[in-house]
Amino acid sequence: MSLASISILAGQGRDGGVEVVRRIDLVPGDTLAVVGPTGSGKSVLLSDIEQLAEGDTPSGRRILLNGRAPERSPLGLVATLSQRTNFVIDTNVATFVATHAACLDKPGEDWPNIVLGLANRLCGEPIRHDDPLQGLSGGQTRALMIADIALISDAPVILLDELENAGIDKHAAIAALADRGKIILTATHDPVLVLMSRRRVVMRGGAMVHLHERDAAETLWQERLRGLDEIFRNARETLRGGERLTLGGIL
Ligand SMILES: Nc1ncnc2c1ncn2[C@@H]1O[C@H](COP(=O)(O)OP(=O)(O)OP(=O)(O)O)[C@@H](O)[C@H]1O
Ligand SMILES: [Mg+2]
Repeated sequence: MSLASISILAGQGRDGGVEVVRRIDLVPGDTLAVVGPTGSGKSVLLSDIEQLAEGDTPSGRRILLNGRAPERSPLGLVATLSQRTNFVIDTNVATFVATHAACLDKPGEDWPNIVLGLANRLCGEPIRHDDPLQGLSGGQTRALMIADIALISDAPVILLDELENAGIDKHAAIAALADRGKIILTATHDPVLVLMSRRRVVMRGGAMVHLHERDAAETLWQERLRGLDEIFRNARETLRGGERLTLGGIL
């Protein structure tokens, strides 16, 4: 199906009270950050979208596609990178990527090379073609999935749950996924990732309590925080590469 919009219609929070934010409409190219303390309901909101909830989940929310309740779940609509991501198939990386591309009817390219090229820009120790999928580390697994979602998957909606905990270059990952006309929802505790989205929904007690739009002050904050994050990232890369930090990097 071609997706023109996806809409989240309010349900209730954990205490049964109706949600303050009544409706959120998202169109291709939109990103929405989902923020809130631990346990506030971010993952549940993402899973409502993944399941195309029809008032049949604990939140009572409903999801509309193109303004209507879908008659049945379209295949391949949503690609999810959850907080618990594991491969269950027993094969090597190159075979998995090639098989996935073939399943989606995308012949003709050297998909294993292309996908691994991106995955290896996102994570530390390189993934090799003949690595067994189940032997990948947590960060490598997520880097491979992001590259697969960005380059092979046709899913118009992408759900990312706490990408910052994946041990990968999160900004490069979002950049790889953005600008492809997809709808991206990202549940995150990371201020830089939050401010990369023009809008954010704030969760509390299981409910959507605010919908904020990034303003001029926050756009300046975004630049500032991105600079600080870069310093932090460089220091981490230096330390985890076994090097020493020098005074030159600070003065
Ligand atoms: N609207 C709701 N109605 C009923 N239960 C809810 C609702 N929203 C969340 N919950 C419950 O609250 C708990 C925490 O929710 P969730 O896992 O989504 O939090 P989270 O914000 O993703 O936390 P974390 O930051 O730790 O990942 C879960 O047990 C979930 O089932
Ligand atoms: Mg969560």
